[in-house]
Amino acid sequence: MARPLLFDRVAEQQAERARASLVRRLRTVDAAHGAYVTIGGRQLLNFASNDYLGLSQHAALREALTDAASRWGVGATAAQLLGGRRDEHAALEEALARWTGRERALLFSDGWAANLGTIAALLDRKDVCVQDKLNHASLLDAARLADCDLKRYRHADVDSARRQLESVTDAAAILATDGVFSMDGDIAPLRDLAALCREQHATLMVDDAHGFGVLGPDGAGSVAEAALTQDDAPILMATLGKALGVAGAFVAGSATLIDALVQNARTFIYATAIPPPLVAAARAAIDVARFETWRRDRLVRLIAHFRSIAAARRLALLPSPTPIQPLVIGASDAALAVAAKLEDAGFYVPAIRPPTVPDGKARLRITLTALHSESDVERLADAIAEALG
Ligand SMILES: Cc1ncc(COP(=O)(O)O)c(C=O)c1O
Repeated sequence: MARPLLFDRVAEQQAERARASLVRRLRTVDAAHGAYVTIGGRQLLNFASNDYLGLSQHAALREALTDAASRWGVGATAAQLLGGRRDEHAALEEALARWTGRERALLFSDGWAANLGTIAALLDRKDVCVQDKLNHASLLDAARLADCDLKRYRHADVDSARRQLESVTDAAAILATDGVFSMDGDIAPLRDLAALCREQHATLMVDDAHGFGVLGPDGAGSVAEAALTQDDAPILMATLGKALGVAGAFVAGSATLIDALVQNARTFIYATAIPPPLVAAARAAIDVARFETWRRDRLVRLIAHFRSIAAARRLALLPSPTPIQPLVIGASDAALAVAAKLEDAGFYVPAIRPPTVPDGKARLRITLTALHSESDVERLADAIAEALG
């Protein structure tokens, strides 16, 4: 019999990964308290969380969650279209639409579902999806699922994006980009991309998982910071599990877009609605994120402080203006060794390795949050300098 045995192949792949220092390891957090996590009985200062505003443990969110659980119980019990939609879902969608300056919004269970559902609902095999090379995996997989022509352009390079669009002028097109790149921390050239899309009759889609809550005058994200309206950036996706500290995601845009998603987005239609207590917590998070502006101010100060201290210690951080502050180490084994030394010194900063990042560009992905203090980031910079020897 010539048929390969599936789990023999899996075992070979795992052995290969181990030889290349690429095995992923699950760690269990025993407790989370402020900026600290306890792992394996040790308290570590956490620089790996996307809870940028420090809302995941906020009292207002906990209270909204428990109130909604008393009212609704826990689960939504069905898809939104089949009786799972509560007034909580409608209210959150309205609040998100208001905040982002869009006509409407639609909730999805998470960012993966939002990206897969949206692109596959709008594009088919006659169409083209033009994407930044460093886009999140869910956007790339979404184009594969849509079975459209996926064309990738050089990172943040508007001319390269233009060449890709100009190579297919007779196909409906979405140009999709992360607003803030998840492993590099830089911001997409959104104004130029919007101008390009206008000129090329393409539709701009922004995945603002890491900009939402963090950037823009009242935290409405990278698209608001770039002052792009619904006409400029017609498809906006953002998650509720990062700066908002909860879980879930939404797509915002015109009524035409949202109606199309309700009809065609399979990850929306065939998925149980987000549990009402989480929806209520997300709505409470919006008020905190929008109006407690000190959290964003503090992040801005921390980012500047960390970057200046890092520069003084000759740590070559990537040029990022956001809370994601990557330090490229290079080889995977070297990145793992630095992360292990940092853990010994009391810091949790996991190494990010290929294929999450390109070969030879393994890195520490340091994330700052409003829960950190200036002395926390100073101590981290010292520890990294020491670990790098
Ligand atoms: C840029 C980006 N888009 C989408 C997602 C997926 O979002 P979720 O975690 O809600 O599935 C992530 C990461 O989680 C992300 O970093």
